[in-house]
Amino acid sequence: MTAEIIVKYIHFIAIFVIIATVSIEFVLLRGKIDHERIKLLSKVDMIYGMSAVVLLIAGLTLWFFIGKPAATYSKNYIFMIKITLFIIVGLLSIRPTIWIGRNKRKIMPGGKIDVPNSIQSFILVELIILALIPLTAVIMAKGIGIMI
Ligand code: HEM
Repeated sequence: MTAEIIVKYIHFIAIFVIIATVSIEFVLLRGKIDHERIKLLSKVDMIYGMSAVVLLIAGLTLWFFIGKPAATYSKNYIFMIKITLFIIVGLLSIRPTIWIGRNKRKIMPGGKIDVPNSIQSFILVELIILALIPLTAVIMAKGIGIMI
C-alpha cells in the first residue's frame, strides 16, 4: 500500500511539473526572444523531459508492478487512449526541443530571434491534450473501458 501511495504521488508530482514547464514554454516561447530567454527555455525544456521520464517510470510501475493487476489496464481501451495521448504529447514536444537546441547556439548575447508561430501551435496542442489525459485517467481508474 505504501509503495502504491508513494508511486502515485510521484506520478502526480511529475504531472504537475510537466503542466508547469509546458505552460512556461507556451508563455515564453513566442515573438522575438533573446539569448537570456532561450537559455532559460532550454533549462525548462530539460526539466520537462526529465519529468516525462519520471512520469513514465511511475506509470509503468503502477501498470505492471504495484496496485491493481496489470490486466486491469492492459485490457482497458480508455487506458490505451491515455497512453496514446501521452505518446502524441511526447512527439509534439520534439519540434520545440529541436528549435530551442538549434537556436540556443545561434543567438549572440544582445541578439534576438523570431519564434515561428508553428512552435506556438505545437505547444498549444500539447497543453490541450495534457488537459484531456486526466479525464481518461479518472475514467479508467473506475474500471470503465475494460474489454472482456
Ligand atoms: C501526462 C500524462 C499522464 C497524466 C496526466 C496521468 C494522470 C493520471 C491520473 C489523474 C491518475 C489517477 C486516476 C485515479 O486514481 O482516479 C493516474 C493514475 C494512473 N496512471 Fe497516469 N497519467 C499520465 C501518464 C501515465 C502513463 C504514461 C502511464 C503508464 C505508462 C500511466 C499509468 C497510470 C496508472 C497505472 C494509474 C493508476 C490508476 C488506478 O489507480 O487504477 N499514467 N494517472
